[in-house]
Amino acid sequence: MAFPVKKIAILTSGGDCAGLNAALRAIVLRASSLDWEVIGIMAGTHGLVSRPPQVRKLTPNTVDSFIMRQGGTILGTTNKGNPFSYPMPDGSVKDLSDEIIAGYHSLNCDALIAIGGDGSLDIINRLATRGGFPVIGIPKTIDNDVALTETAIGFDTAVAVATEALDRLQPTAASHDRIMILEVMGRDAGHIALTAGIAGGADVILIPEIPYDIHTVVQHIGNLRQNGRNFALIVISEAVRDAAGASVMNEFFGKQKRLGGIGQLIGAQIAELCGAETRVTVLGHVQRGGAPSAQDRLLATAFGVHAVELILQGRFNRMVAWQNREVVDVAIADAIKTSHLVNVDGALIKTARGLGICLGDSAPRPLQ
Ligand code: F6P
Repeated sequence: MAFPVKKIAILTSGGDCAGLNAALRAIVLRASSLDWEVIGIMAGTHGLVSRPPQVRKLTPNTVDSFIMRQGGTILGTTNKGNPFSYPMPDGSVKDLSDEIIAGYHSLNCDALIAIGGDGSLDIINRLATRGGFPVIGIPKTIDNDVALTETAIGFDTAVAVATEALDRLQPTAASHDRIMILEVMGRDAGHIALTAGIAGGADVILIPEIPYDIHTVVQHIGNLRQNGRNFALIVISEAVRDAAGASVMNEFFGKQKRLGGIGQLIGAQIAELCGAETRVTVLGHVQRGGAPSAQDRLLATAFGVHAVELILQGRFNRMVAWQNREVVDVAIADAIKTSHLVNVDGALIKTARGLGICLGDSAPRPLQ
């Protein structure tokens, strides 16, 4: 028997990415076909702190096919401040969870669909458990670090943007005999750097999962030069670790760790050690904005429809996931236990080593 539903709520939480609107559209279209009312909560859980809660009604008309093509999220989002210890202007922290739970209950919804990364899904799961309301999670993150799903909304578009950047850097690098460094996002996961680096023909790819030694990188550039190549493309993930295993660049803004800037540091080292002209491009939030790729639209749409089916079946506290070319679902509690990092023995690492791409370590190439 179908779970009795009249009204559901959706929110987007954490850093935005391409494909969020496509997921919202799919949820609204499928839910409306079941005659359910759908409301969107504005600005993630922040919308539930206001009184009355900040919401907007979502209908098939408001999510017409144009929003599927748009980056960002029409609901707004935030990646600042854990509501269980929210930083207040006076420097103190406040637990806002009871206010958020009360805000959600005041909406009289039968279930909540939360679209977020690992941090957001963890928070929503805790709120739902404490507040006793049914929740479904949809994974989104350009970092692709949510566990138990092979991919998440936004990752494919970010890879396409980083690959296009390499396509644009290669001709200018070759024309000027320069070393071009591209710094990409990803936090502690090197998926964007590794995937775009291979697709974009990088000579060196540095990821957090493989501590790098600058001398290995310099030696690789020397080898390229000896073989007659006077330019190089280097992709660096924002949270790479040095040979001692320490994260190289961290800046703290309050309790929030902000990454970025490693490209300049390594660029300066390479310029000095190789005597090479070096230029650095920090791709930054360009990776998060813009129209979603076809694959992200498809993934978001399939995830959105499956999330509604789970509610219909009364199966809650589940996260939709992509595994073996299928949409499946897993317990949110299991998904947030670990992170999906690059498998250093996996197919893409073997591919990179097989191509002779330097990964910053001195590991021997496994393919002969
Ligand atoms: O988690 C997604 C992400 O884009 C990371 O890759 C990046 O480090 C971070 O968010 C940037 O966050 P902000 O939008 O706060 O600068």
